[in-house]
Amino acid sequence: MTEPEQGAVVLWLSSRYENIELVQAALGHVCRLRGIDGEMEHWIGMALREAVANAIRHGNRLDPQKRVLVSFGGDGDVLELTVGDEGDGFDPGRISDPLAPENQMKTSGRGIFYIRTFMDEVSFSRGEKGGTILTMKKDLKTRIAGKGEQ
Ligand SMILES: Nc1ncnc2c1ncn2[C@@H]1O[C@H](COP(=O)(O)OP(=O)(O)O)[C@@H](O)[C@H]1O
Ligand SMILES: [Mg+2]
Repeated sequence: MTEPEQGAVVLWLSSRYENIELVQAALGHVCRLRGIDGEMEHWIGMALREAVANAIRHGNRLDPQKRVLVSFGGDGDVLELTVGDEGDGFDPGRISDPLAPENQMKTSGRGIFYIRTFMDEVSFSRGEKGGTILTMKKDLKTRIAGKGEQ
């Protein structure tokens, strides 16, 4: 995985679902420091939990020996979060569309859709060892997640 930016808050976690709580707590702390309000924190938290759950489950396949890296960075009006895993990577172009009629009854396959809805910029890249690095940015000037000024 690539080195996180200087000054960022970084967590290294083993691949256990209970660690998602820890990520949520760290997000709360960062939001307090950055003056991010509760509603914004709620939407960012939804996206972040989905991303970490994917890294644990699909990336690292629940192998507790494999780690998930979460970093909280960006400055000024932008919060930048990254979630990296030690899996085999995947092609984000092949994710199925949860809004397609054949998928609407499925309860899975919505995480990345939510992430793209709640965050302003979302990109996937490959880590040095082949895992996935998901980078998500939130413009803190927007009042409602991803919807601009209302
Ligand atoms: N970090 C990851 N590593 C490997 N595959 C991933 C990762 N994140 C997502 N995926 C793939 O993208 C698909 C869609 O993810 P998502 O929208 O969160 O739905 P779900 O987790 O319910 O399957 C997953 O089923 C998986 O195949
Ligand atoms: Mg998911």
